[in-house]
Amino acid sequence: MKNILLTGGIGFIGSHTLVELLNRGYQVAVVDNLVNASEITADRVREITGRDFRFYRADIRDRDAMEKIFAENAFDAVIHFAGLKAVGESCVKPLEYYDNNIYGTLVLLETMRAHNVKELIFSSSATVYGTPESLPLTETSKTGGTTNPYGTTKYEIEGILNDLYRADPTWNITLLRYFNPVGAHPSGRIGEDPKGIPNNLMPYVAQVASGKLQKIRVFGDDYPTPDGTGVRDYIHVVDLARGHIAAIEHLNDPGVHIYNLGTGIGYSVLDMIHAFEKACGKQLPYEICPRRPGDIAACYASAEKAERDLGWKAEYGITEMCRDQWNWQSKNPNGYEA
Ligand code: NAD
Ligand code: UD1
Repeated sequence: MKNILLTGGIGFIGSHTLVELLNRGYQVAVVDNLVNASEITADRVREITGRDFRFYRADIRDRDAMEKIFAENAFDAVIHFAGLKAVGESCVKPLEYYDNNIYGTLVLLETMRAHNVKELIFSSSATVYGTPESLPLTETSKTGGTTNPYGTTKYEIEGILNDLYRADPTWNITLLRYFNPVGAHPSGRIGEDPKGIPNNLMPYVAQVASGKLQKIRVFGDDYPTPDGTGVRDYIHVVDLARGHIAAIEHLNDPGVHIYNLGTGIGYSVLDMIHAFEKACGKQLPYEICPRRPGDIAACYASAEKAERDLGWKAEYGITEMCRDQWNWQSKNPNGYEA
């Protein structure tokens, strides 16, 4: 049985991965400083799974805390979710993003090395592909040309991990490039809880459906896409979480292994709004607004490599994504707040 550390493990994607790991009998510890999470999530994960895990409230940049966590546990592997992820905020606070994401990763890697833990799964992002030259994006598509500090931290961390492996080929590193995770656990007990007004499409749509927000703003309808609105590869967060299980189970050979985690299908903003209308049973008001600066027209994955090498592929479609996002939103209109 593997003993795994999850950094940022009670955030949106981490908590769903935690559920899947606990359900499969893994021994798990979580380190999270709660900068973008609630400790209530930890209780809900215990409730969903009927299993316990160790929770450390600490910052991954805190060397002493990290040393203590590694000294107390014999980890086999780490899944590294911890990081700041708001694109707009990263443009306003670049130093905070470089410090948290890059320096935080360095402290984690140094602590891992000191304890001879050399198996790592890193949360990367489709954002490392910048503006795609062609679609679908494969793992060998060109990376770089990121347009914001958040995206640059992901690109740079991928580079650091490649250098680390080159210097010490006993490391076993998997870079998972997530496309657009949406939805929530089907129980409706855990889900995404954005602070303030959501930046991403689906949490915004869900809050319009629940009456918290007035109207969806569709950022541009003049893109070279079938209906003119932006196209993305939305993936159910439970599928994404299971992609981590597949990756953990295939951590066999040292190297830097890269996988896209997406469905391989692109849907437009209007496709997603209409699918959500079906899920919530009401029409959702929207207006066409100017393009959002920095947005690309279309982005979707080739998901073939993960299927071929890891035996993983997404099982849920947009109907389940919208159903579960609405289930979470309607049962928790204020997120984890009472
Ligand atoms: P999230 O904000 O819900 O989770 C991140 C977690 O890390 C939070 O619980 C936060 O409290 C914690 N954290 C942040 N900085 C920390 C620090 N210094 N020390 C300890 N804990 C810290 O985000 P998420 O959506 O679950 O994303 C998880 C990872 O996946 C992130 O690295 C993110 O950049 C990446 N990612 C997310 C998406 C997405 O659309 N959600 C897409 C691609 C990649
Ligand atoms: C965004 C980030 C990306 C990050 C990802 C996951 C930007 C430019 N990119 O991706 O780096 O990895 O989130 O966190 O922010 N849309 C609307 N109205 C809205 C919100 C979005 O029309 O209120 C449109 C967007 O123009 C886009 C699509 O919906 O076409 C998806 O947007 P979003 O959910 O923000 O994700 P990305 O932009 O793909």
